[in-house]
Amino acid sequence: MIDQTRLPHELATVEWRTLDHACHGITSMQVRGAPLIGVAAAHGLALALAERPTELDEAIRSLTGTRPTAVNLRWALEQMAEQLGPLPVDQRAAAARGLATEMADHDVTACRRIGEAGVGVLADVHRRTGRPVQVLTHCNAGRLACVEWGTATAPVYLAAQQGVPVHVWVSETRPRNQGASLTAWELADAGVDHTLVVDNAAGHLLREHLVDLVIVGADRIAANGDTANKIGTSLKALAAREHGVPFLVAAPWSTIDPRCATGAHVPIEERDAVEVLELAGRPIAPPGTRARNWAFDITPAELVTGYLTDAGHLTPAELRARRADDGRVEAPGTAPGTAPGTAP
Ligand code: MRU
Repeated sequence: MIDQTRLPHELATVEWRTLDHACHGITSMQVRGAPLIGVAAAHGLALALAERPTELDEAIRSLTGTRPTAVNLRWALEQMAEQLGPLPVDQRAAAARGLATEMADHDVTACRRIGEAGVGVLADVHRRTGRPVQVLTHCNAGRLACVEWGTATAPVYLAAQQGVPVHVWVSETRPRNQGASLTAWELADAGVDHTLVVDNAAGHLLREHLVDLVIVGADRIAANGDTANKIGTSLKALAAREHGVPFLVAAPWSTIDPRCATGAHVPIEERDAVEVLELAGRPIAPPGTRARNWAFDITPAELVTGYLTDAGHLTPAELRARRADDGRVEAPGTAPGTAPGTAP
């Protein structure tokens, strides 16, 4: 795995050999981002079964407990459990490895489709304005958060490949700075023009007409379209609504959770307060200051203009209707067209 805690200073990899490595890697955010957490957990399960093939349920419990909000984690593990449970114990490890690899491939295809669903929106803006498309994003919903392409970045990368000029405003994303450390890094790596801003700059950018589109990722989308994403996302959605700028959520179908009726049912991870109280390992508040560190917030569906998914570009109403009609996007290990199993 790329050890994301070492970016942007160093592109280093870390090797996972055991279930404990995988659990630690997900909790400590060596890997993060909803789709990647799912794929990483699948590989963690394969490692676990290579060690202890009889302990399927225990391994799934450990991995499920690593991070609560990104539903792709549960989705991936449930897909695996369904396929592996009925197998003879001595076949589980090899089958798990195969399924984990399929899941990674599936993610690449899904993200590419997200790009295809969104690239036309960017091309239209360019056609209309004749200048580079100005995209604002938050956190890292890029290729580092997935396997390739990313979710929010997939339309950007595809547009750039197709010769549509794009500039990305990258919101730094306190406290873990995924925007500054990861999104800025991968956009630079891909040669995409971008500018880093502090999180609080979004209102100013939108008011000054410096943004054509806001595109963010998602950690979980409730059945009604309410979207959990990195803390600070909902403020950008409110500002976008106020200034008449489209607010797009990009996510694979595995991020939709029909078991959560609304955003109120999504578990919001609260992380260690030290992430708020310190910056680069140094205190930024007086000793004894209390802090809270919610990692995600909920953007209500009414603030979302559209969802860029592997099933196309959908309005909130279309997303809700499609959700009811399970079984369109194939999940790894299921026959094409028979995939109610994709319901996370
Ligand atoms: O805490 P993180 O870094 O795992 O949070 C990631 C995000 O909030 C992303 O925007 C989201 O997972 C979408 S990733 C394609």
